[in-house]
Amino acid sequence: MKIGIIGAGSMGGILARHLAEIGHHVSIANSRGPESLTGSAAEIGATPVSVVDAARAGDIVILAIPTKAVADLPRGLFANVPSRVVVIDIGNYHPELRDGRIDAIDRGMLDSPWVAREIGRPVIKAFNSIFSESLRTKGVPRGTRGRIALPVAGDSPDAKAAVLRLVDDLGFDPVDGGSLDDSWRQQTGTPAYCRDLEAAALRRALAEADRSRIAEYRAEQEARIRRSL
Ligand SMILES: NC(=O)c1ccc[n+]([C@@H]2O[C@H](COP(=O)([O-])OP(=O)(O)OC[C@H]3O[C@@H](n4cnc5c(N)ncnc54)[C@H](OP(=O)(O)O)[C@@H]3O)[C@@H](O)[C@H]2O)c1
Repeated sequence: MKIGIIGAGSMGGILARHLAEIGHHVSIANSRGPESLTGSAAEIGATPVSVVDAARAGDIVILAIPTKAVADLPRGLFANVPSRVVVIDIGNYHPELRDGRIDAIDRGMLDSPWVAREIGRPVIKAFNSIFSESLRTKGVPRGTRGRIALPVAGDSPDAKAAVLRLVDDLGFDPVDGGSLDDSWRQQTGTPAYCRDLEAAALRRALAEADRSRIAEYRAEQEARIRRSL
């Protein structure tokens, strides 16, 4: 497949490398332009492009940027991108540590529906609930004992199926996380978040999450990160 990645940091770089390794044609962009990525992209096996070209790169586009940066993307970025192209949001809103306050999310909108509204395009939420180091090192072939599972949430069955396959191809057990309205179950700090769980445990963790605690889960996770810095 042709895959565009917007964001070439920890997560974007690892996804680009692993996707290229399994045979996908990967284009990658950052905020500073393709010239700044020439060396790293060549080493990864990806093509450095502009943000606009990454959005037009093909079958799947992955948003791997801080949540606050979504609002800075070019207006109408996806306007001429065919609707069959799947957009994956891997982001997590971190108001205290990184993003500053985003009123709509603070008032109760979920992270990925906010991203979808900003870019004017449905998204699938995936890869947000695994730390970069686990993503980098812990993918294993299907059937391996202890294989980590990752949730995928979204509204289009076809788009979600494509992302579930991608998760599997990258070495993780894919778990259907429901609709985008269910995506709070895999947001920052929830029981399913970044705990490297196997499929059965991940399903239990998704089920036991408490919607009334979304802001609390997030704040607790931000406090944990702050303590670890
Ligand atoms: N790190 C993790 O373990 C982890 C795990 C799961 C999910 N996530 C989420 O994944 C997202 C990316 O995290 P990360 O750790 O990969 O971040 P990161 O290492 O800080 O990298 C961010 C990337 O986004 C690019 N970027 C920023 N603003 C942009 C814009 N307006 N247009 C194009 N590119 C832009 C940056 O490009 P420049 O360098 O050129 O500015 C950089 O390449 C975040 O939402 C994060 O919460 C992270």
